Amino acid sequence: MLGYDQKMLAKEAVLRSFKLKGRAIDLYVLPEYLFVPNAVSRLFAKVVQINEGDIVFDIGTGTGVLAVWSALQPSAEVHAVDPVLEHCELARQNAHLHGVDHKLHAFHGSLFEPLPKNLKANVIIGDVSGIADGPGKALGWYSSEVPTGGGDGTEVITDMLRQTHRYLAPGGILYFPVAIGLSDDDKIMRVARQCFESLKRVVDVWFPLSEEEYEIVSCCLPPTLLERVRKKGSRMAWNGHIYEATGPKLG
Ligand SMILES: C[S@@+](CC[C@H](N)C(=O)[O-])C[C@H]1O[C@@H](n2cnc3c(N)ncnc32)[C@H](O)[C@@H]1O
Repeated sequence: MLGYDQKMLAKEAVLRSFKLKGRAIDLYVLPEYLFVPNAVSRLFAKVVQINEGDIVFDIGTGTGVLAVWSALQPSAEVHAVDPVLEHCELARQNAHLHGVDHKLHAFHGSLFEPLPKNLKANVIIGDVSGIADGPGKALGWYSSEVPTGGGDGTEVITDMLRQTHRYLAPGGILYFPVAIGLSDDDKIMRVARQCFESLKRVVDVWFPLSEEEYEIVSCCLPPTLLERVRKKGSRMAWNGHIYEATGPKLG
């Protein structure tokens, strides 16, 4: 925990504009310490479908980018969760900034644990940490305040996949990311197949690494993962997927 109180956070945070599905959204962020929305956040906004009256969970909300975006859709309510206290506070401030604080509720804690009992979602955005600790920290994507996906990048995502069946309303959809090369994607997909009847890949994008980034990554990734970082054109790149999971199997 950074130990910021509400007033200090409001003073230190900076307003940045993020383009989601062609729409610019201003959000408070704290770049050195907290997670800053990135290309993957934008891809989630592109593929997540929210219908009128949907209840949305945004698990791993960070400073609330996808929660605010979901609250600006015709959703009924949005419940956002993050284990970093300051993320939750900024998510609340961002909800206020966009006039959606009446329908966006941010909870401090892990996965589904802090949510109101018996509440189920039509849409779960599961953009939780899915990058292995080594590259996540070394590349500067995760500060020391923000938990990564553990040693092989799978810890948070696989826990979420195993628990989702208890929190999805009938016909509901979970969206989750897989970082091929930067996590053990075989393990994530094995668990995903155990937990869901249907998995549809809705995003498949290569993210180029600079020479310096590749050097950093090659020092801290086991060879079995590093071999999945491939040459695309003149640059090395990692492959990002987003899946739509439906038909949760009972655990
Ligand atoms: C890749 S970031 C995405 C943040 C945000 N969705 C965005 O697009 O900016 C992953 C987020 O998952 C959160 N996270 C890590 N472990 C978690 C857990 N056990 N439960 C919920 N969120 C978690 C991190 O704190 C971080 O904010």
